Order: sequence, then C-alpha cells, then structure tokens
Amino acid sequence: MLYHIRFYKVPTISIDSKKDLVLKSVITITNDLGDKFFFGNVNLKVDIGVGLNPILLSWTSGMQSCNLNIPIPKRTKSISVNVIAEISSLDDVLEENPQFLRLKTLPFKLPSGTCERVSIRYDLLHPPATQSNNGSESIDRSTDKLARPQLTIAEEAGSNNLARHVWDAGLATCQWLVDNRTVSQRKLLGSPRTIVELGTGCGLVGLALSKLFIDSKVILTDLEDANEICNRNIQLNIAQTNKRKRDVHNVAFQVFDWDSDETPVEKDKIDLVVVTDCTYNPSSYDSLLKALSIVTRTGTKILLAHKYRDPDEEEFFKRLTFKKLLDTTVDYYSQSVRLLVMEA
Ligand SMILES: C[S@@+](CC[C@H](N)C(=O)[O-])C[C@H]1O[C@@H](n2cnc3c(N)ncnc32)[C@H](O)[C@@H]1O
Repeated sequence: MLYHIRFYKVPTISIDSKKDLVLKSVITITNDLGDKFFFGNVNLKVDIGVGLNPILLSWTSGMQSCNLNIPIPKRTKSISVNVIAEISSLDDVLEENPQFLRLKTLPFKLPSGTCERVSIRYDLLHPPATQSNNGSESIDRSTDKLARPQLTIAEEAGSNNLARHVWDAGLATCQWLVDNRTVSQRKLLGSPRTIVELGTGCGLVGLALSKLFIDSKVILTDLEDANEICNRNIQLNIAQTNKRKRDVHNVAFQVFDWDSDETPVEKDKIDLVVVTDCTYNPSSYDSLLKALSIVTRTGTKILLAHKYRDPDEEEFFKRLTFKKLLDTTVDYYSQSVRLLVMEA
C-alpha cells in the first residue's frame, strides 16, 4: 500500500523564549483518501535543508499524527522541509510492502515566512524516490531527467477536501503517460487539439499532459472549490517552464460541474477527455456519465483511470458504452490502478 507523508497542520515559524526561531508543524502518514493511517512503526527523517543532521521522529502503530518542533540555526535565510520514512526492522511492518511518498516543500523565506498551505512538492514526472522495506531508496530516475519534464504539484496541508490533494490514480496515470509517451501513446491518444480533464483536483494529470502534448490546449475543470489550488499549480509549472525559456502556456482552469448542461469548451474541438480517480462515489455516476456525454462526440478519446477501492465501482464501468481501445492495469508504487483508453 502507498502512504503519503503529509502535513496535518501547516508549518509555522515561531520565536521561542531564547528568541530563537523554531519550525512547528504536525505530520501524518495516510493513504490518499486520508481515511487510513499507516499502522506500523517507522522512523521519520526530517531535513530542513540547512546542512544539519536530519532530525529523527518515531511513528508508532496506532498514531494518527506526529509533532514537529525543529530549532532553526541563526542567520538561516530559507528552509525547505523534506521528510522521508525509514523502516528499521521488518518486525515493525504490520502489512506487506508499505511504500511511502516523501514530503518535500518548496523553499520558504525566514524569519517571518510560513510554508504556504499549498507548497508541497511532488516531482511527478521525475517521481520522488520511495523507500523499500529496508529503508533504502529504491528508485532513482535522476539520469532520466530530460525525458521526464519536471512537474511540481502543490496540495493543501491538513485538508480533507477531495479536490485539494494528490490521488493515487492520478499519480499512476502520470507514470503511465511518461512511460508510454512513445508511438503507442501517440497512436492511442492521437495528437489532440484540445484536452479536457474532468474533476482535475490539483490539476496534476492535466498539467502532465500539457507538458507532454505541448501543441495541445489543456482545460482543467472541476468545481469552484478547486479553482485556487489548480491556478496555483498552473502558475508554479508555467513559471518553471518559462525559466527554461520555453513558452508552453497551453493550460487553463475552468469551473465545470458535472451537473451542468453546458460544455466547458465546444465539444467539436475536444479530442481527448481525461478522468482520474472520480469513480469512487456511486451517487455521482449519473452526473459523471452525463458530463462525459456532454464533452464527447464521435471519435473523442477518453482516458479514464481509477484505483480499486470498492467492488461497487464496477457498476460505473458496466454503464460505459464507449469503444475500448485499451483496458490495462498500471502498477505504481505497488498500487493497482485500472486505466482505460476509449473512443466515443
Ligand atoms: C478524488 S478527486 C480526484 C482528483 C484528480 N482527478 C486526481 O486524480 O488527483 C475527485 C475530484 O472530482 C471532483 N468532483 C466531484 N464531483 C464533481 C462534480 N459534480 N463536478 C465536477 N467535479 C467534481 C472533486 O472536486 C475532486 O477534485
């Protein structure tokens, strides 16, 4: 099972009685949905990037959160928080092969700065290393950097809000997109003029597509609730791209509620529709199926991915009437994600 190391409380900088700066926060280790905490013992290694030895915290079975209290050396100008998990003994592991996504923030300035609630970094197309059971890092793709444009996705700390977190099916889809960016992907997905993502959340899959299909226009859609985080992620990634002097400002956010009857873009222009991790709630199936019919016409491709969470989800897939071009399982950090490419 994949666990996300996340902030439970947004980090703050305070001044202690000796007038020294202290970083305070609360960390948690959960699944993507946030309803299951890691049930085992693990050491958390916290590094704030100022050249000191990392601080070690112990996470023990049954915990739901863990306090962080780190003194910051004088004259430090900026810090970034980087937390990885290390399992010291297999006796500590109460389930098979747990994997941990590290937590890494963008740097933030001192003394007055706070780590904004949306500044956590997942380098998706250059995935963060996970740790295997013995604590060693198992993936190093640094040599692959050129082939994997970097993508930074911010998510909200401590929120249970569905739209403002990164989800496993989205992560796996990004991985699949990068791993299959050769001829087969182009053949399956074509050269879409316009790509629309439904229920984009933080925008991760749409942003990945905007980097892989730089000649396409990508419209990220969701409820108003996702507007702020999604636009922040667009800004984060456009800024990165512009630094490299490549203007690929081909992505925008638009509110689109599946219950609405109006398409976010003229459907004649939409060549690819993407939906990841949006089928966990059977009560929204009617709306989602209606939204899919609104944004597709004959020939539109649909990329749909979901993590197996509940057998009831099969109901949704039975109701899909599209022609299937690919129905495959993607393994990402020991997660099984089903990925379908279809044509309307
Ligand atoms: C579990 S999240 C998945 C987010 C993203 N696709 C990912 O894989 O990381 C489901 C998303 O569907 C969106 N959603 C739920 N109901 C919706 C509706 N009626 N109209 C538009 N979006 C909706 C939520 O706001 C949320 O962002």
